[in-house]
Amino acid sequence: MRKLTPTIGAEIFGVDLSRPLGNQQFQEVHDALMDNLVVFFRDQKMTIDQHKDFGRRFGPLHVHPNAPIAIPEHPEILVIKADEKSKRVAGEEWHTDVSCDLEPPMGSILHAIEVPPYGADTLFANQALAFATLSPGMQRMLRGLDAVHSARDAYSPKMQGIHDRFEGMTVTTSEEANVTQVHPVVRRHAETGADTLFVNQQYTVGLDGFWPHEARPILDRLFAHATQDSFTCRWRWAPGDVAFWDNRAVQHMVMGDVTGHRRLMHRTTVAGEAPIPAR
Ligand code: SIN
Repeated sequence: MRKLTPTIGAEIFGVDLSRPLGNQQFQEVHDALMDNLVVFFRDQKMTIDQHKDFGRRFGPLHVHPNAPIAIPEHPEILVIKADEKSKRVAGEEWHTDVSCDLEPPMGSILHAIEVPPYGADTLFANQALAFATLSPGMQRMLRGLDAVHSARDAYSPKMQGIHDRFEGMTVTTSEEANVTQVHPVVRRHAETGADTLFVNQQYTVGLDGFWPHEARPILDRLFAHATQDSFTCRWRWAPGDVAFWDNRAVQHMVMGDVTGHRRLMHRTTVAGEAPIPAR
């Protein structure tokens, strides 16, 4: 294993994800994920079924509530793609996958099928560190707060016109995306016990019990704090690479520098539980 930075990310060597993981190998991957929050494997030749089997080793698979199903036989595979005409790629804003769900996913596994020669790297940020580096006063205040999450600014009908302008992306918007969920601003990681900041720019739309004009400056400050460079690592993709991240402790984003090249990624998402408040 090789750490990418002192704070987040590690590359794992010698694991073939196309084969079922034995108990010891499973434990090693699991522990590396808990310690490093995102782990990477190079040159994996797994099929879609093998990708799903790897994900299921960590829990039942989650199906994205809003994204269209691109491969009808495999609704658990979220296809993220850009082509020569694309001006953007999905996931360009810092986010935690589907934090607008009642039970947001525990983890996500992204397999690079086709990648551009440069550009569209993915960045990951450590949200335990984001919380730990706030002042004691700020930590105390945040522990008492709940945030409102919704996919309305990504997948609700008001966004359809924007999606239509970006060729290469198929997004179907729906009224269901207007549903909101309330989650603690600080959650306790169910396995490591770490307290993590759980708000993100894409899905967190307010603070429960606050006027919007009161919540906005607090959230904007937290978004900026949580994604500062020293909490992050950055992965430059090659075909066959796999990234597996822990959504309970990580935000991520793809760099919006698509350059007229094709990019095709398959993602499975492992189901999670309702966030545990860290009061
Ligand atoms: C995602 O947001 O899950 C996708 C990130 C990427 O395509 O690099």
